[in-house]
Amino acid sequence: MSEKILVIGAAGQIGTELVLKLRESKGAENVIAADLKKPNEEVLAGGKFVQLDILDEPAARTVISDNSITEVYLLAALLSATAEKNPMFAWKLNMDGLFNILNIAKEGIIKKVFWPSSIAVFGPSSPKKNTPQTTIMEPITVYGISKQAGERWCEYYFRQYGVDVRSIRYPGLISYKSLPGGGTTDYAVDIYYKALENASFTCFLDENMKLPMMYMEDAIRATIELMDAPIENIKIRSSYNISGMSFSPKEIAQSIQNHISGFKINYSIDYRNKIAETWPDSISDSSAREDWDWEARYGLKEMTKNMLKNLSQ
Ligand code: NAD
Ligand code: SER
Repeated sequence: MSEKILVIGAAGQIGTELVLKLRESKGAENVIAADLKKPNEEVLAGGKFVQLDILDEPAARTVISDNSITEVYLLAALLSATAEKNPMFAWKLNMDGLFNILNIAKEGIIKKVFWPSSIAVFGPSSPKKNTPQTTIMEPITVYGISKQAGERWCEYYFRQYGVDVRSIRYPGLISYKSLPGGGTTDYAVDIYYKALENASFTCFLDENMKLPMMYMEDAIRATIELMDAPIENIKIRSSYNISGMSFSPKEIAQSIQNHISGFKINYSIDYRNKIAETWPDSISDSSAREDWDWEARYGLKEMTKNMLKNLSQ
């Protein structure tokens, strides 16, 4: 039987591009987009969309059984900055959404689940540079706590119930097809828009705040490669570190100045800098490389060239 895929959170930054890529590789008729809100025109026009609140478990069950779904990509969540404004709701959405899907998978109805974690699982006591796969993890944001707890539950459902759940700790993601939805790394998308609009940008992070980042094309490829990897290769059932590039606001600004010479960056630091201070500078992804041959293709230079080209079109 061929895969029938449901992407929940399909109108978001990752969901938009993931749905498009999955439809291209698995067939449009095999990929259903679901979200609380309507996705963009390209996603809507390319295949089926269903409106779904992942907190409504019976509704999720109905969508899954009516469409004979075999794989779920669960992307609906509150991101780090938004979550800090409403911690209790963030906890509810990020955890109950995951439980709803894991429990349906436990019954054998879904064969495979993708659920993303984040570099936010690390905290101030984790090693900052080349943060290893396994290390001290004491996240201080509600978002990071929910991702760390989610990782433990994913591993638990795999060990106890054999649920084939796979996960990646995404770094900050940079894309041109869809806007980010309330994270600490969002500045690294906005900066390209503002550079093209008025050659200046005011950044909410400190100029030297280095964070792990990744171009969306790499992130989508990593997601699909992980999901397509043979089951015996998946040795980690919490979540895999993956690494793309690391840069500070000053460094991304310099890479833009190589294309737009008059571009200026100013700083007006806010609460998101405190979140970023607790996250790693860079990540070691040796386990992902060993287990499923992961390798990023984009560095800062190539990404800046690509972002500016695509956004100016
Ligand atoms: P996003 O905010 O852009 O998209 C989330 C989508 O989920 C939105 O379209 C929203 O409408 C939808 N949604 C919210 N509540 C819902 C509900 N109750 N039912 C159904 N849909 C609902 O987020 P994103 O950046 O695409 O992130 C997707 C996942 O990846 C999240 O779990 C996030 O934590 C994780 N992640 C993202 C990044 C990043 O840089 N974008 C980095 C690390 C991890
Ligand atoms: N990009 C995400 C955020 O900033 C990291 O998980 O919230």
